[in-house]
Amino acid sequence: MHALSRQPTSNQEHMHPKLAATVRRHLEAPSRKPVASHNAAALELLLQALADQPRPLVLDSFCGTGHSTAALAQQHPGHLVVGIDKSGHRLAKQPDDSPENTLLLHAECEGLWQMLAERDIAADYHYLLYPNPWPKAKHLQRRVHGCGGFFWLLQLGGRIELRSNWQAYVEEFGVAMHLAAHPGGVSRVMPVTPLSLFELKYMESGHELWAFTGAINASTQALSGQPLAGRTWLATP
Ligand SMILES: C[S@@+](CC[C@H](N)C(=O)[O-])C[C@H]1O[C@@H](n2cnc3c(N)ncnc32)[C@H](O)[C@@H]1O
Repeated sequence: MHALSRQPTSNQEHMHPKLAATVRRHLEAPSRKPVASHNAAALELLLQALADQPRPLVLDSFCGTGHSTAALAQQHPGHLVVGIDKSGHRLAKQPDDSPENTLLLHAECEGLWQMLAERDIAADYHYLLYPNPWPKAKHLQRRVHGCGGFFWLLQLGGRIELRSNWQAYVEEFGVAMHLAAHPGGVSRVMPVTPLSLFELKYMESGHELWAFTGAINASTQALSGQPLAGRTWLATP
C-alpha cells in the first residue's frame, strides 16, 4: 500500500493565459538544443537495438521505473517499446520480468525526441504517463506542451496518449495539440489495471485521472503547412 498522494494544487484557476502564445512561439521557431553526451549515448543504444532487429517503435516517455514500459511491451509484441526517463534511480527499479521487446533509456525526453526527429525516426504510439505537472503558473514552460520539446514530440508522429491526475494539464495539452492542427479528445479514464506505479498510487488515493488521446497526422507539419518531405518512417504513421 502506497502513502496517499495529494492532488496538484495550482495558483492557476483555468487554462494558462499564455498557453496559446507559448505554443505558437515554439511551433514557429523550434529550439534546437546542443546534444548532451548522455542523450547521444541513449540514442546509440536505440539505433543498435533497431539495427539488431528492425521493428516499429512505441515510446513511453517519462517512464519512471519502466513498469508501464513492460506492460506496453506485452500489449505491442511486434514493436520495440522504449521507456525514457532522466532518473537512473527510477530506471534501476525496472521489473525483472520485462519482455524482450523492452528497452529503457537514461535520457532527457526532449533531447532524445529532437535527435530522433532529426533522423526521421517516428513512433507508432507515444505514451506520456503522468509527466511532472509543474502546477505553478510560472512553470508553464516546464510542461510538455509549454516547452520547446513539444515541437519535436509532434515530429515523431503516432498515436498519442497523455495521462495526468491534474485535469487542467490534460486540457492544456489538448488545446496545444489543437493549435498544432492535431486535435484529439480529453476524457476521464478509469483503468481496471493501473498501467504505471504513479497511476496505481493516484488510483489508491482516489484521484480523478484524465487522458488526452489523439493521433498525429504525419502528412502535415504543425502550423507551417509544409509537408514532411523526404521523411523515411521506420514505423507506419
Ligand atoms: C510523476 S513521474 C511518472 C513516472 C511514470 N510515468 C509513472 O506513471 O509511474 C515523472 C517522471 O518523469 C521523469 N522526468 C521528469 N522530467 C524528465 C525529462 N525532461 N526527461 C526524462 N524524464 C523526466 C522523472 O524522473 C519521473 O520519473
